[in-house]
Amino acid sequence: MGRMQTLHPLGKPPSPASPLPSPAELDDAIRRLKRERNAVVLAHFYQESEIQDLADHVGDSLQLAQAAQRTQADVILFCGVHFMAETAKILNPTRTVLVPDLSAGCSLADGCPPERLAAYQARYPDHVTVSYINCSAAVKAMSDCIVTSSNAEKILRSYPEEQPILFAPDQHLGRYLMKKTGRSNMVVYPGSCIVHETFSDKALVQLKLQHPEAQILAHPECEERVLRHADFIGSTSALISHAERSPARCFLIATEPGVIHEMKKRAPQKEFIPVPSDDGCACNLCPHMRKNTPEKVYLALRDLGPELVLPEALRLAALRPLQKMLSLS
Ligand code: 13P
Ligand code: SF4
Repeated sequence: MGRMQTLHPLGKPPSPASPLPSPAELDDAIRRLKRERNAVVLAHFYQESEIQDLADHVGDSLQLAQAAQRTQADVILFCGVHFMAETAKILNPTRTVLVPDLSAGCSLADGCPPERLAAYQARYPDHVTVSYINCSAAVKAMSDCIVTSSNAEKILRSYPEEQPILFAPDQHLGRYLMKKTGRSNMVVYPGSCIVHETFSDKALVQLKLQHPEAQILAHPECEERVLRHADFIGSTSALISHAERSPARCFLIATEPGVIHEMKKRAPQKEFIPVPSDDGCACNLCPHMRKNTPEKVYLALRDLGPELVLPEALRLAALRPLQKMLSLS
């Protein structure tokens, strides 16, 4: 009697394990698997350029959440970090959400466990909790509204001025928003991004002396000592659009240098220089984002895993503040 084949919930069995295609064949093999699996590949601007090039949508956190919500594909392969794939699953639960590497986390999300946020909420009972999207589903579920760096200012302004706010988990984005909106009744949770905290203001000033004509572009996850030098501050997509539209020819980039791939595509005649880290190491590359590789993308599509799953009660609790964000965006 022949062996019974176990079917995946999608009705398609994983392909039998076969050796990895050669680097020259990898791109075609991924594109073939995408068609076979009816999969959409979403990639953040911090992914390595090879992954960005094989993705169906490349974007910032907000754009990718919106793409995940809209997609009709059976499978979403999310090339980013864990909280982003979680967001895709919360917004589109009937799709299979895959990630190239389940261990790709985020220092902001990891630095804000739900019990620690609960302690802040207990200390500030009159405050509504507004959380940056870089947090776990459990923290989202405890929040009144979610924001990304693209929509945070607009959403904060939608709260009445007299309403006190607890902002979690990024202290630098929180302080930047307080300054931008003039809100003083905001308490900021003390989390930070290990990548954006590493930029050296001294190295930035030295670079500016070497390139006096250059504009400094910075992500609001950077510390104030870097932000105060910036000509333009915004989300990854806002920085990319600014670089494209600006008449300047040279830019110093104070965010993860993955964004430079799209900047060069849109403005090939311009120069983009990554701002170095404090000690000259390559710490401005996000170690979590960079866990994903084209090989892992291939394996995830071939094996239909690792898959991101969420308990339904948690998903529903986290959906409410995300829907509020999308309706206010
Ligand atoms: P945005 O792409 O939304 O600006 O976010 C940057 C980031 O750090 C994602 O982890
Ligand atoms: Fe998290 Fe920072 Fe990496 Fe973004 S760059 S995923 S905020 S650790």
